[in-house]
This record gives sequence, C-alpha cells and structure tokens, in this order.
Amino acid sequence: MRILGIESSCDESAAAVLDEERGLLSHALFSQIDLHRLYGGVVPELASRDHVKRLLPLVRQALAESETRPGELSAVAYTAGPGLVGALLTGAALGRSLAYALGVPAVAVHHLEGHLLAPLLEDRPPPLPHLALLVSGGHTMLIVVRGLGDYELLGETRDDAAGEAFDKSAKLLGLPYPGGPELARLAESGRAGAFDFPRPMLDRAGFEFSFSGLKTAVMLAVREREPDAQRRADIARGVQDAIVDTLVGKTAAALDDTGLGHLVVAGGVSANRALRGALESAARQRGVEIYFPRLEFCTDNAAMIAMAGLARLKQGAAAGHLAIEARAQWPLGSLRASNAAA
Ligand code: KG4
Ligand code: ZN
Repeated sequence: MRILGIESSCDESAAAVLDEERGLLSHALFSQIDLHRLYGGVVPELASRDHVKRLLPLVRQALAESETRPGELSAVAYTAGPGLVGALLTGAALGRSLAYALGVPAVAVHHLEGHLLAPLLEDRPPPLPHLALLVSGGHTMLIVVRGLGDYELLGETRDDAAGEAFDKSAKLLGLPYPGGPELARLAESGRAGAFDFPRPMLDRAGFEFSFSGLKTAVMLAVREREPDAQRRADIARGVQDAIVDTLVGKTAAALDDTGLGHLVVAGGVSANRALRGALESAARQRGVEIYFPRLEFCTDNAAMIAMAGLARLKQGAAAGHLAIEARAQWPLGSLRASNAAA
C-alpha cells in the first residue's frame, strides 16, 4: 500500500507519501509563519486562503519526489480535525476529491493521533503499551496508549496548553510569532532561578495541568520594570523552567503510577531541547525507554498524517461515503480502534 497524506489543520500546509514496505518516501511542507507574523498569531481566514494556494503544488512535489504516479496511490489520508475549520476544509476537500478521482479510499485522520504515531516513522518505533506526553499549541495530555484507538487519557490541561503558555509568554516579552522556539532561544542566556514562576498542580495528586497563571506572572514581571536584555532572558528562562518542571514532574508521576517502561513524547513542544533533556534524565533514572519523533516531525507535518492514515486503513477504516469531514472539535477519547471517524 502507498498512501498520500495531507495536513492543513493550522498554519502548515504539507503533503507526504508513505509506502507500507519502504516507509516514508517523501514529504513536502510550507510554513505560513511569515504570513501570520505581522499579526502576532494565526489569522484563520488567511491560513485557509494560503492552504488553497499551497496544497496542490505540495501534493505534486511529494508525488514527484517519491516517483509516485497518482494511479499508484492506494489511499489518501487527510487531517479531518481538530483544528481551524476553514483550514481543515481545504485539505479535506482536496484529499476527498483526489481519492474520489483516483477511485481509492479517503481516510479522515485525527490530528492528535497523527502526533501520537509520529514516532513510528523512526527506525526504533515504541512498543505497546506506552505512556505518551502530547504537548502542542492546543493540547497538553498524558495518555496511556495500548493500541491504535485504544487511548486512556490520564489527564490534560484545564486551561492553556503548554505550547500556548510558551507562545503567550513570548508575546508578552515582545518576541515574534511563533513564540515557543523564540522564547527557548532567549532562555539560553537567562539565569536559572532569577525568576521563580508558579508550577501549578505539581504539588497535587493526579495528572491535570494548568498553565494560565503563568502568563499573569510573566505580565507582572514585565510590567514591574522595563526589562533590559538580561532581565528578558531571565524571564524567558524562568518561563521555560516552570513549564519543563511541570511537564516532567507530572510525566514522572505517571510513569511511576502506571509502571510503563516506554515513554513517547510528541507534539510541537517536544521540539524543546530543555524539555527533551529533562525528560531523558527522568526516564533514565527510572530505566524507561524514551521515544521522540525527529525534530521536523514534532511540529505539524503530513508524514505523521500518512502514518496514521495507513494504520487506520490497515484496520479497515475508510469512509465509503463522499463526505468531506472537518471537525474543529474532535475529542481524542471519542476514537475507537476500528474507525477513524467513530
Ligand atoms: O504540534 P504543533 O506544531 O501545532 C499544534 O498542533 O498545536 O505545535 C506548535 C506549538 C507552538 O505553541 C510552538 O510555539 C510550540 O509548539 N513549539 C515550541 C518549540 N517548537 C515549537 N515550544 C517550545 N520550544 C520549542 N522549541
Ligand atoms: Zn499539531
């Protein structure tokens, strides 16, 4: 089987070709960062319009680079949600139409399942069951993964996601969008302990997170005194340390609680080096194996969508009807083992 994956849930347009036997053959991506930077965040309507322009050329590029003729495709997988509904619709309409024209199944993929399965693109795939920490711009979750669609949500954020906390703090520091990686860069020259921001929920049992208080603390620190370069770096370091400590503390507790020996870390924030390092040492202390997608597959991409689409297809999932599926809200917990669109 050879599958085309299409991603368009937010501000990345992407296409990829994955072969069941030969693995990932190509992936092409266009990031809309420059388009949205002017506005300090993603403007949904601009995102949709740009996806319309970018997606088809990216699909052509992914097909050409993988030396795949359209007729050789066995299926088309597209991100059906969760995400910006207009942006989702562009990829869903394209994916659905291509599948119809080629007479092959279309698979409506859950974006978070894509992130969860991204480590399967690597040479050393994680065995089941495992614990997954999913940290992106929209989600912060600890999940026990027992199989495809067999997910037990241990806990998630009550308010802001980890990536959102990075981005909002970065904005308060006057950093350009997208703030997460920018803040991480600034934090490198910051001093540990100069700012001791709150680590909410860390002293409580359970696996819930809360990051909304962090931006208030950062706002106060920024307002207290016009920050010079060192103070800004110190604040950035304080923010990163607070987020990393919280994520690592809860993840370590979940490892201890479940006794699972394998940890997957996925989603855009898993690109953060401080987080990777701290999780690696927490895992090492416990004799737990840790798995990250390669950096380019931590953030949104189509390779992970093709991977999730292939896994679903092998299970027999593919919509027989012609519906173009796009869901802004789509709880991960509503997925079942047998059908991507359950
Ligand atoms: O998974 P993703 O690409 O998109 C969503 O599905 O949300 O994640 C994007 C998030 C953004 O909040 C971004 O700032 C954050 O991941 N991010 C980072 C880093 N790289 C991306 N946050 C901290 N450090 C990074 N190096
Ligand atoms: Zn994502």
